Amino acid sequence: MERLHKVLAAAGVASRRKCEELIAAGRVKVNGRVVTAAGTKVSPHDLLEVDNRVVRRPARVYYLLNKPAGYVSTAADTHGRPKVTDLVPPWPRVYPVGRLDLDTRGLLLLTNDGELTNALLHPSSQVEKVYRVTVAGRVSQQDLARLARGIELDDGPTAPARLRLLSLRGAETVVEMAIHEGRKRQIKRMFQAVGHKVTGLERVRFAFLTLGNLKPGQYRELTPREVRALKKFARRGDRMAGK
Ligand code: URA
Repeated sequence: MERLHKVLAAAGVASRRKCEELIAAGRVKVNGRVVTAAGTKVSPHDLLEVDNRVVRRPARVYYLLNKPAGYVSTAADTHGRPKVTDLVPPWPRVYPVGRLDLDTRGLLLLTNDGELTNALLHPSSQVEKVYRVTVAGRVSQQDLARLARGIELDDGPTAPARLRLLSLRGAETVVEMAIHEGRKRQIKRMFQAVGHKVTGLERVRFAFLTLGNLKPGQYRELTPREVRALKKFARRGDRMAGK
């Protein structure tokens, strides 16, 4: 189930905000009945109408993008900066599955399947995300062990993580780090907490998906098999949350 105003926006009716207004104004019908409640949820099988005209919903699309640095992971940016959605076809409209910081590179999924997005972002889905982290200074084994156990951040302790030292050269350390959470600037804040500044961050894996030979700025569509596997992943999360 997905929120009605998002489904309407994804179908190209208007912006999400405008669609909320259309709903409140009584101009939207679901299965023949006017719906005005904000937050109404609909399934892919519901018949939607705006001003008595049937809304045609676009097919679901799923992109795997190698995000370059300097792109924001939002569908709209008030500062006019380049957006990750500029790198994929403009129609149907897609939204990123979670966010990577402006300066973070690497694997980002984009889709118009809001249900799958919500399921994958829900903590219960336990999607593993793997990053290659470049850090200023020499990170000690004790620091790595602390980060792996979990450390206290201002929004609470972090869950256990997996870390592997990739290289320690001069005044720079490169580490591979796998986490299941997705808090704001999590990896940067974790390294900051042990006294190291992250100077480069690239996501190299999301669940079982990797970048393959996609260059920065390039994307590909997921195969039907990959989409099925991702949905299975998300359903596993539902079961763990007792839904
Ligand atoms: N952790 C961060 O600090 N930034 C990201 O973009 C992703 C994970």
